[in-house]
Amino acid sequence: MTATRSVVLGCGSYLPQQILTNAELAARIDTSDEWIVQRTGIRQRHIAAEGEFTSHLAINAARAALADAGIDAQSIDLIVLGTSTPDHTFPATAVAVQAALGIHHGAAFDLQAVCSGFIFALSTADSFLRTGAFKRALVIGAETFSRILDWSDRGTCVLFGDGAGAVILEAQQQPGAASDRGVLTTHLRSDGRHKSKLYVDGGPSSTRTVGYLRMEGREVFKHAVGMITDVIYDAFKATGTTAEDIDWFVPHQANKRIIDASAHKLHIAPQKVVLTVDLHGNTSAASIPLALSVAVKDGRIKKGDLVLLEAMGGGFTWGSALVRW
Ligand code: UT7
Repeated sequence: MTATRSVVLGCGSYLPQQILTNAELAARIDTSDEWIVQRTGIRQRHIAAEGEFTSHLAINAARAALADAGIDAQSIDLIVLGTSTPDHTFPATAVAVQAALGIHHGAAFDLQAVCSGFIFALSTADSFLRTGAFKRALVIGAETFSRILDWSDRGTCVLFGDGAGAVILEAQQQPGAASDRGVLTTHLRSDGRHKSKLYVDGGPSSTRTVGYLRMEGREVFKHAVGMITDVIYDAFKATGTTAEDIDWFVPHQANKRIIDASAHKLHIAPQKVVLTVDLHGNTSAASIPLALSVAVKDGRIKKGDLVLLEAMGGGFTWGSALVRW
């Protein structure tokens, strides 16, 4: 029995030029390189230039993904963009990307699931492709969190960075087995009881302002590993795979301690973990496609590899995806 799978044709990413190091932050606020590295693993992050918007980062990542896939933008009929830092309240940042790529057909929309945005976007695009509604999807995670940080709050401003990553998926007929290429399974969760633990204190309907990111870091940390591992066990169960079958674990890059603890609990060997949090910081919905892009470019992730993705963030939202590259 064959199955329609969303097969990865290519991926790409983009980081703003400006790098902000821990030492530079320590010169501005009461923090230190030692504290940030020890508690998070972060050494630097990229910051968008004045006038450089989320859409600009997304367009660059999308172009890189199209070049990697070797396909024409005109063959894309669906764009799903995960972001919590859109250019405008509306229209969706996805339509700015669509217009810049010269695409006037199909559909483009944003999806808001904070740090889980890429997993939610991937799952949504996969569902559409498998129904036959669309043929080729551009799935993007793009953020400019630097714009919603309170730069006087050392508990949050040291953690986040800007960037974008993109993946192109195509609906293809596959044999219908665990050895198929493409998205094999996705699992999405949310629980709004935790909405005040990580949020932005503004919005069009409440304050008519954009607001700043607020987080009870310790509370988020407390829930993270359990939630992440739960949805990964769901992915293993749905596909009959185990941690040993995984070639690469590409987690959301929020905190090295959370990633290490999750990999340890799942018995995933440290050498299979793709880590970019040291260089990118937490780029929210962009972190997974940025990390994928790094590991594909340096030759780690190859065609046929089994890649496990996971994320957890504000809402709370969390999710996993198992993809055969
Ligand atoms: O993207 C998904 C969502 N986000 C996350 O996954 C983040 C989850 N949380 C975390 O990663 C961690 O909780 C943090 C990295 C945010 C904080 O680490 P922690 O080990 O939980 O530290 P803490 O919040 O318990 O703070 C410990 C101490 C406090 O001082 P006292 O009260 O012990 O005197 C803080 O005031 O560290 C202090 N502190 C800092 N010190 C230097 C907080 N931020 C800083 C800082 N530099 N930047």
